[in-house]
Amino acid sequence: MAKLPDPLQHRKADHPIETLFLQRWSPRAMTGQPIADSDLNRLLEAARWAPSTNNEQEWRYLYAKRTGPHWQTFFDLLAPGNQVWCKNAAVLVVILSKKTFTRNGKPNPVHTFDSGASFENLALQGAAIGIVVHGMAGFDRNKARQSLSVPDDYDVEAMVAIGQPGDPDTLPPELREREIPSGRKKISDFTREGHFSF
Ligand SMILES: Cc1cc2nc3c(=O)[nH]c(=O)nc-3n(C[C@H](O)[C@H](O)[C@H](O)COP(=O)(O)O)c2cc1C
Repeated sequence: MAKLPDPLQHRKADHPIETLFLQRWSPRAMTGQPIADSDLNRLLEAARWAPSTNNEQEWRYLYAKRTGPHWQTFFDLLAPGNQVWCKNAAVLVVILSKKTFTRNGKPNPVHTFDSGASFENLALQGAAIGIVVHGMAGFDRNKARQSLSVPDDYDVEAMVAIGQPGDPDTLPPELREREIPSGRKKISDFTREGHFSF
């Protein structure tokens, strides 16, 4: 059994919230074992139900299973620092967003925002069923666009590693010591009533 840290031992909410928000975190230790298609579908199903402007559902998910034909293409997009631990992921995902409204072709100012909401749904579902979901900005966007044939009216947003939780002791030392659920700013650090005054 993996010696995963318990997020609830590291995180305390200042106000009562659903435990799942604290349980979701971004581990790097994974076993390299596959996840069931049914579990992948549960994650994507959660992503599906995110809110979006005009119900546009701008998000698009491209994925590669580690045992499938597209793994190397996706893995090669990652920054070396992410490859170190993503080699044990079960699935790598590239999230895209459609930049224009389907109904009239006009620019959609919130395509990134909506796609982020979809990712968070997926991540929370992963936390709920004990599957690692770890978002990544550290990858080559231009290469992703080219090697995955992404059209110009879609943005490449982020990558995600998905996998079975592993033993933190399998990580290199510098990552092992960071394998602890992080804290957060205070509400007062990121909110103001009224005008901007940070
Ligand atoms: C869009 C996005 C990009 C991220 N990029 C990386 C990354 O390239 N490499 C990495 O190891 N973690 C990455 N992370 C994980 C963040 O560092 C992590 O979410 C943050 O420190 C908060 O920790 P938590 O998710 O465990 O609560 C990313 C997270 C998000 C949402």
